[in-house]
Amino acid sequence: MGDSNPVFKNIIASIVDGIILISREGTILQVNLATEEMFQQSRDHFLDKPAVDLFPHQPQLQQKIDDTLENGVAYHQIEGQGHRRAHQVTFPVSITISPYLNDHNQPEGAVLYVRDCTLSQELEEISRPFDAISHLGTLSLGMAHEIKNPLVSISGSAQLLRRKLPEEHHKFLDVVIKESERINRMVDRMLHFARPLELDIDTINIHQTLEEILILEKQSHEASIHFETIYDPSLPSIQGDGDRLKQVFLNLIQNALEAMPEGGTLKLLTRYHSDYMVRSQGRPHRRQAILVEIVDTGLGITQENMKHLFTPFHTTKSQGNGLGLPLSLKIVENHNGKIKVSSEAGAGTTVQVYLPVKQENP
Ligand SMILES: Nc1ncnc2c1ncn2[C@@H]1O[C@H](COP(=O)(O)OP(=O)(O)O)[C@@H](O)[C@H]1O
Ligand SMILES: [Mg+2]
Repeated sequence: MGDSNPVFKNIIASIVDGIILISREGTILQVNLATEEMFQQSRDHFLDKPAVDLFPHQPQLQQKIDDTLENGVAYHQIEGQGHRRAHQVTFPVSITISPYLNDHNQPEGAVLYVRDCTLSQELEEISRPFDAISHLGTLSLGMAHEIKNPLVSISGSAQLLRRKLPEEHHKFLDVVIKESERINRMVDRMLHFARPLELDIDTINIHQTLEEILILEKQSHEASIHFETIYDPSLPSIQGDGDRLKQVFLNLIQNALEAMPEGGTLKLLTRYHSDYMVRSQGRPHRRQAILVEIVDTGLGITQENMKHLFTPFHTTKSQGNGLGLPLSLKIVENHNGKIKVSSEAGAGTTVQVYLPVKQENP
């Protein structure tokens, strides 16, 4: 691989994606450092082995490599599975196959450009509970009316009865009335999920949004919480719904504060993120995004609790409603963004929000 030119050699060695040179016969001639790391085996283990061994049981891929070797055709971003032999695990990859041309411009093999897509797929999996929410949404639409109508009759009758009965019986009817109201509020909240979210898109400076929230929160938590902000000054503005995004960060910051009843540090970080994958019409493509991190030193989240974070009405708080996270996820998803949560029980929690800079139509 360009041994004659040291700069090219360094570039190939520095690139974070895998580059594999294969012979006309489909065996591996060269790999870069990233390939060794990705497949977790050293260079010697690659050489002279068939390239397809790295991507077993994927005949469509084999066929494309053959096509490149025989006909000089290039293929872009083919999705597949890489195989780490030592650990018997597979990981998602995106592969670009180009014919390798020699000094005389003759095809003499192929170059595979391999990208590990683990992170971007993880992000997608994190947001999968959202499917459950939209499912719940459809269900709740139907159910809501079935519940709300009789509920009106129940509380209406109870109020009538209350007027007719002597005072000693009032307390029982008050329970009926109060509980009916509570069910009614809960159904209303469920209906909230059923409605598609219409975004009012504007140009948003996320730092400004965060500062607006912090001004309020700092006043009420002055004594016990240490606030810290690490903002990337080059962070671009994004396109989004300002009010809704404010609601998201308010929810997340409040969760962080509620996790620190004894006090602690709340850290807000922003970063530019140029390597963000979104899936539109089934095809992943790269977009520019910003990343906002909300880091607390609070109670943390147990593994069991972690599974239900985005489930509507799941809460571990006596006064909680369990809607902050699912609603935030719904809003972020509507912006084509992602939310990622990592936590260590007892040590604290980090919530990452990825938001694309532009809201393109797919
Ligand atoms: N920063 C955090 N630290 C610890 N636990 C959290 C954090 N954020 C969310 N949680 C957990 O997730 C649950 C759901 O959060 P949320 O949907 O906002 O509902 P609520 O705050 O009303 O309980 C919380 O009850 C809590 O157990
Ligand atoms: Mg909350």
